[in-house]
Amino acid sequence: MKVLGLSFGKKNANDDILVKEALYGAKEAFPDAEIKFINTQRLTIDRCIGCGACSACLEKGGDNDCIIKDDYQMVEEAVRAADAVILAAPVYVLQPVGQFKNLVDRFGCRHDVSAINWVLDKRRSGEMPGDADAYPIERLRRRTVSYISVGGATTDNWTSMGTASLHLFGFPAMMKVVANYNANCMGTVANPYLDEELIGHMHEIGKRTAAAVNMEDKDVEFYGPKGMGTCPVCHQDLLMVNGTTTVQCPICGIEGKLSVDGEKLNVEFSEAQQARARGTFAGLREHTTEIQGFGAVCMPKIMANKELLEEKMKRIKNFDEMINA
Ligand SMILES: Cc1cc2nc3c(=O)[nH]c(=O)nc-3n(C[C@H](O)[C@H](O)[C@H](O)COP(=O)(O)O)c2cc1C
Repeated sequence: MKVLGLSFGKKNANDDILVKEALYGAKEAFPDAEIKFINTQRLTIDRCIGCGACSACLEKGGDNDCIIKDDYQMVEEAVRAADAVILAAPVYVLQPVGQFKNLVDRFGCRHDVSAINWVLDKRRSGEMPGDADAYPIERLRRRTVSYISVGGATTDNWTSMGTASLHLFGFPAMMKVVANYNANCMGTVANPYLDEELIGHMHEIGKRTAAAVNMEDKDVEFYGPKGMGTCPVCHQDLLMVNGTTTVQCPICGIEGKLSVDGEKLNVEFSEAQQARARGTFAGLREHTTEIQGFGAVCMPKIMANKELLEEKMKRIKNFDEMINA
């Protein structure tokens, strides 16, 4: 079993300590486990530039490699090689540090289980070029993941989008989330080693993330030492509200029904909604289908308005001259 620790914090600081202690936990539980640790802070992981080269290449029968060559490839290879991932990122201004999002944007779409299988099915039916069997499908094999969000603030108010945002890393690849932990309070804890309970949770997270590799998804019990969260799928407490009693989990994209009982708020997510959460094949497939339909809607619009758009786009291409005229 290969267990990977990824830390987006400073070298030997809070994120490193928490991830490494989780890795010690995994090693205690599975002495034969191969452990790897990467600190990303000094790595260059540039942003996705939306060039579409990865999906275009896949649809032409090739691979879906990212054409930006930097340290991303090394991190991607390490994740692909891992059976279990323990990922920690510091909260910078309410959310995980920006480099984490750069990784998410480049990794997620290119490991989207539904999108890749959609192309491979088209290869099999002859609708798209390429050999379906040539694609290294083991890249999409099952992995387990746990997330640790690290913040300085004493309340979870200043880490409000930390833990939830970390869930964006693994859902396209349908990684099985074992645990998440909001390690806020670092500003007053001073060093995680001064909080035995926290270190204990990290060991438990490491053990459970590794143990879940050998389990079926349905048998993995989510480990949420700070609570099980409002959404029964991602276990986060964020909700999108729209003035009705129907709310949405912004991470899973599923609808729930809200009711109030005195001071208590209940949100019920039906089994049917849970089954279409973003991190399930059905949820991902909804999005694949939506995206694949864009061309049929947009192309006729563009063709019918070719001259108008050419004229209008001069305002954009010649913006500097036109705004100062
Ligand atoms: C630019 C910047 C913004 C930060 N914003 C927040 C914040 O919004 N909320 C919070 O709780 N901590 C915030 N912090 C504190 C870090 O999350 C905290 O110091 C954390 O321990 C850093 O991780 P590391 O020790 O592994 O490097 C911020 C730190 C920096 C440098």
